Amino acid sequence: MPTPLIERYRERLPLEEGDPVVTLNEGSTPLIHSPRLSDRLSADVYLKFEGANPTGSFKDRGMTVAVSRAKGSGAEAIICASTGNTAASCAAYAARAGIRGAVIVPEGKIAIGKLAQALMHGARVIALEGNFDQALEIVREIAKKHPVELVNSVNPYRIEGQKTAAFETCDELGHAPDALAIPVGNAGNVTSWWAGFQEYGTSPILYGFQAAGAAPLVEGHPIPNPETVASAIRIGNPARWEEAMNAFTASRGRVAAVSDEQILDAYHWVASSEGVFCEPASAASVAGLLAHGLPVADGMTKPESVVCVLTGHGLKDPDSAIGKAPAVTGCKAELAAVEKAVFD
Ligand code: F0G
Repeated sequence: MPTPLIERYRERLPLEEGDPVVTLNEGSTPLIHSPRLSDRLSADVYLKFEGANPTGSFKDRGMTVAVSRAKGSGAEAIICASTGNTAASCAAYAARAGIRGAVIVPEGKIAIGKLAQALMHGARVIALEGNFDQALEIVREIAKKHPVELVNSVNPYRIEGQKTAAFETCDELGHAPDALAIPVGNAGNVTSWWAGFQEYGTSPILYGFQAAGAAPLVEGHPIPNPETVASAIRIGNPARWEEAMNAFTASRGRVAAVSDEQILDAYHWVASSEGVFCEPASAASVAGLLAHGLPVADGMTKPESVVCVLTGHGLKDPDSAIGKAPAVTGCKAELAAVEKAVFD
C-alpha cells in the first residue's frame, strides 16, 4: 500500500492532533534519470515527474495538507483562483473531504483536461472574464468575507505540503542535488522546495524559469497582461514574489526567461526523446536548462547533479500536444497501404 504523504512526513508537517487525513495517496513520484539531458548539460540530470500525482500535478502535495487542516478546523467549503491545476486538485480533495469546492479560472485560458477534472469532481467552476491575478485578488476578498478556506499557495499549509517534494528527492538520491530547475508562476512551489531543502540542512542552486511574456520576477515589476502558451504559468504578479526572490538569492541561483518557442520545443523534445510527457508550463524547466545551461556565481563549482521538476502531466493539455506534434498518417484498411504507411 502506498503511504500518504502526511503519514510519511507527519513530524515535519503542522497538522493538529485530530485532523483527518484527506488523501489520495499523493507524492512518491518517480525521479527519472535523464540520459539525454545529462549528455547535453554534462551533468547527472533527473526528472522529478510530479505529473504522476493523483490529479496529475504537484498541487496535490499541498492540497492534502491544506484540506486536511481545513476539514479539521471545521471548514465546509474551500475556494481557489487557478490557471487549472490548483482547480483540479482543489476539486478532487473537496470531493474526497466531503465539502464544497469552488474554483475561479480565467475564461478560455485553462487546459481542457483541467477543466474536465474540476467539473467531474463536482466543484463550482466559475470562468472569470479576467486573468489569474485578478481572480486571486477576488478570492482573497471572498475568503475574508465568507466562511470558506482559501487553498491557493498563499495558504501556508500548501507550502508545507509541497516541501515534501524536496524531502523525497533528497531521501531517494541519498543527498540533495547540487541544483534544481523549476518553472515559476505564482512562486509557491519554488518557495516550498527551498523551505524543504533548508529544513534538511541543504542549499542547492535554484534555477527558476518563467515564460518570457509572463516574467515579472525576471523583469522586476508586475506584468499587467501576461501572455504565454504555457497557460499554467500565465501570471503577472506572483503572490510569493519576495520569498521566491529571497530563495534565488540565498541559493546563489537565478530566475530567467524562456520564450514560448523554447518551451514548446523542450516540451516536444522531452516527450519524444525521454518518453516523459509533461505539460507546456512544466517544460519551462527543461527549456531553461537547455537555453541557459548551468551558470554559477564566481567561485562556485558547476553542479554535477541536477533535478528538473516536471510539475504537471502532459495529458492535461491535449490541445497543445496535438498542435505541436507531427500529424497522424491516414491509411486505407489494406495490408499494402498499411505497410507503406508504416515503413516508407
Ligand atoms: N507548473 C504547473 C503545471 C502549474 O500548474 C503551476 C502553477 C506552476 C508550474 C507554477 O507553480 O505557481 O507555485 O510557481 N499553477 C497554479 C494553478 C497557478 O492555478 O494551477 P507556482
